[in-house]
Amino acid sequence: MKVLNSMLDSDESNLFRVVRAVCLASVALVARAAGAQERDRPVPDAAEAYPPKVFPDRVILTYAGDPAHTQAVTWRTDRTVANAQGQVARADHGPQFESQARSVPAATVPLITKAGRARCHTVVFEGLEPRTRYLYRVGDGTHWSEWATFQTAASGPEPFRFLYLGDAQNSIKSHWSRVIRAAFACAPDARFIVHAGDLVNHGTDDINWGEWFQAAGWINAMIPSLPSPGNHEYEKSREETARDSSPSITGHWRAQFALPQNGPKGLEETAYFVDYQGARIISLNSNESLEKQADWLHEILGRNPNRWTIITFHHPIYSSAKSRDNAQIRQLWQPIFDKYHVDLVLQGHDHTYARTGLQTASTGDSSSSAANPGTGGTVYVNSVAGPKQYVLDRKPEQKRTAEGTQLFQVVSIEGDTLRLEARTALGELYDAFTLKKRPGLANELIEQGPGTPERHPPIPAEKPKAKATATLRN
Ligand SMILES: [Fe+2]
Repeated sequence: MKVLNSMLDSDESNLFRVVRAVCLASVALVARAAGAQERDRPVPDAAEAYPPKVFPDRVILTYAGDPAHTQAVTWRTDRTVANAQGQVARADHGPQFESQARSVPAATVPLITKAGRARCHTVVFEGLEPRTRYLYRVGDGTHWSEWATFQTAASGPEPFRFLYLGDAQNSIKSHWSRVIRAAFACAPDARFIVHAGDLVNHGTDDINWGEWFQAAGWINAMIPSLPSPGNHEYEKSREETARDSSPSITGHWRAQFALPQNGPKGLEETAYFVDYQGARIISLNSNESLEKQADWLHEILGRNPNRWTIITFHHPIYSSAKSRDNAQIRQLWQPIFDKYHVDLVLQGHDHTYARTGLQTASTGDSSSSAANPGTGGTVYVNSVAGPKQYVLDRKPEQKRTAEGTQLFQVVSIEGDTLRLEARTALGELYDAFTLKKRPGLANELIEQGPGTPERHPPIPAEKPKAKATATLRN
């Protein structure tokens, strides 16, 4: 011991260096062997990876009603939880708010997946004050989430911004997580997050949803989501495959998202709209019942008191991946967008970035509106947030494009101007434009991109599936 102490107290002797080197080498060998074992282990199934527990998880804010006076929250537990509830109080600087909290009982539905039997609970907090910060928690009276904050909308037009994300879909935990976190870091005051479909790759696979909720974490508990369903949220059940019938939306959708039921009958919580501080945000379901939604669009756009109209859905009007074209959607819906002067359309599906100028069905590109100020037109954006990337199909209407790039978008609305910024997963500005409303004239489009070269790195040859809309139902 005396010898060892003297070795430790003094500069290391040669002997000690040798002993230490041997020890470190042994540790490295053991670690490498453990790493190899780790890699050889099978991927855990949903029950092992994301088991429901008595404590709430997958807590997510959505809108089920007027965002100035209501706030919906949904979460998951195991099936032992029978007394689910939410509590809400006006936010305060200190912990005193808790004594003012009121409890609201939850509506509960079962969610049966490969992870086992779970329950999804939803509370809609009602009677809230506009433009006010609240704190809330969810649980069963014993097992609670943390208190998280949200802010109600103002009751009239006021500036705000929101996030828009294209397909997350693949390697969600490993590769999409950094994008949603970068988006939050860039715009922590975003009032909601628009997801333009294909949130996951396999809509009925609980492990996909486990990754999606884990990647977004508490961001979902603080910023409401407005998801629109993609084709990957539609999967055939065994019975549908046996009957050779069309796929239906995953049971996860309505169980875990409490969305407005103001859409056409049969499309509740997939086609819906929310009015937010002077903007009407509409989700269309581009997977089915297109004609029914065209009728509904006439109805809700014909009596729209908002200054701005933004529509999101999955399958783009202007496809930007090779071998793709959603002609049926374009022919049915674009003339309606033109008629009611829809300002902006936010889409996914093509796993590329492609943003148009001001487009109409009849006149094509009318971006040089100074020459033709009455023509109008809508800006169409396709974007992708996840790692799956397709080869771009170059088209004349595209003003800015990217391949091999994960992006998020921040949309800011203030009075007569709307600005969209597309940023890469590293937060770098990639594309930007402003739409300006002008009295008696069509929108003016002002290009404000960074002027950097477009990103077109080589994309591994994975062909997107053609006939992407073959499963559409009318
Ligand atoms: Fe996709």
